[in-house]
Amino acid sequence: MTQEIMECRICSSRELEDVFDLGEQPLANGLLASPGIGEKYPLVLTKCIGGCGHVQLKHTVEPTAMFEDYHFHTASSERMVNHFCQLLLDNTPKSGGVVVEIGSNDGAVLQRYKQKLFDGVLDNYLDPEWDFAVWGIDPSENLCNEAANSRNVDVWCDFFNENTAKEFVSAVGQASLIMCCNVLGHVHDLNSFVQGLALLLADDGKIVIEVPDVYQMVEHLAFDTIYHEHISYFSATSMARLFNQNCLYIQEITPQDVHGGTLRYTITKRVGNSNSVYDRINTEYLMPINWETFKTKVATQKAQLQFHLTQCKKEGRKVAGYGAAAKTTVRLNYFEIDNNLLPVVADCTKDKQGLFIPGTFQLVISPEELQLPANFPHIVVIFAWNHAKEIVKKEHTLVEKGVIFVTPDFLPVLQ
Ligand code: TYD
Repeated sequence: MTQEIMECRICSSRELEDVFDLGEQPLANGLLASPGIGEKYPLVLTKCIGGCGHVQLKHTVEPTAMFEDYHFHTASSERMVNHFCQLLLDNTPKSGGVVVEIGSNDGAVLQRYKQKLFDGVLDNYLDPEWDFAVWGIDPSENLCNEAANSRNVDVWCDFFNENTAKEFVSAVGQASLIMCCNVLGHVHDLNSFVQGLALLLADDGKIVIEVPDVYQMVEHLAFDTIYHEHISYFSATSMARLFNQNCLYIQEITPQDVHGGTLRYTITKRVGNSNSVYDRINTEYLMPINWETFKTKVATQKAQLQFHLTQCKKEGRKVAGYGAAAKTTVRLNYFEIDNNLLPVVADCTKDKQGLFIPGTFQLVISPEELQLPANFPHIVVIFAWNHAKEIVKKEHTLVEKGVIFVTPDFLPVLQ
């Protein structure tokens, strides 16, 4: 079920160098129905040293194993729904056309966007004759059903690539705006995906992409965002190479304060990247990532978290986790924190409750169950650190009762 790559997914160079090896790890979103030994797969980051510098996974896990029944629901984070809806509103073409979200998940963003359009939020800006078709494209059947049935969003259920783009264009037409956020990192055949984008995009259209930035991942020690679903870890250098070789060009890069360091790329068919893109590429060239330092810092964090959890256990202070995110699985497994040290993780996603974190076997409970005497914690570690502020706000009753919320490096969450 895993395949080792022999060449770079962007430039096909065969010169690859391993930079960070996390060992054999379970699928980060593969929550278990009962605590038992599940399958594990190698998780190794490798870097292209022959061409484009792209950082990527050395192995590919069969995509159907990961995406057909997908448990992440965009709707679980109001902040993210607002963020992506605003992105669409800010980039809506004046005269309308087809607007497509690739990786539309449960349809929460498109539902909100359609509401805003029809509530007249952009009325002063849009041409009076505007006409929109709003579509989602997503490979996950359970999420497409939810988007179509409960949110009344038109969805095309398939993996996006060149063929899907051709079929979509002949059925619906080319798009004047394509949004594709936190998706590109999941794609194995990047060139087919980007060729698909080029086919789908109208000549005067715009693509807006958000992807985590590998430089910021390293800076923020966000090693827990490395997992089998995330095949690629982009820089401006590798993004420019990928898009330019498929006749698409980067007009703008803007940093976003989500997921610990994300960049927003605005891409069109207008030939040539903008000067600011070349500036960023130069900076990346002058300041290469030091992977040895990264590894040492992660090892220190592991020792610290294990120390704190062991101390708490000795002192009889109960610790719970919060957020059964993919990154939680990665951190718990890489840090070897089992359910003796940390028995439960709370999460608001109904589908996840009652299941177990693969490999370390923490039971996922609802946030309400955290309030029960059997679970009531002294300390809560927010493993879904990208949502820390939102979670602490939601759980203010626990805070009022003296529960301390900390980040995975055991520092209090600052409001
Ligand atoms: P996510 O941000 O998708 O992280 P990853 O990409 O690593 O999976 O996952 C966040 C998880 O946190 C998700 O399971 C929902 C949960 N969550 C809560 O339980 N309560 C909240 O208030 C928020 C914002 C998220």
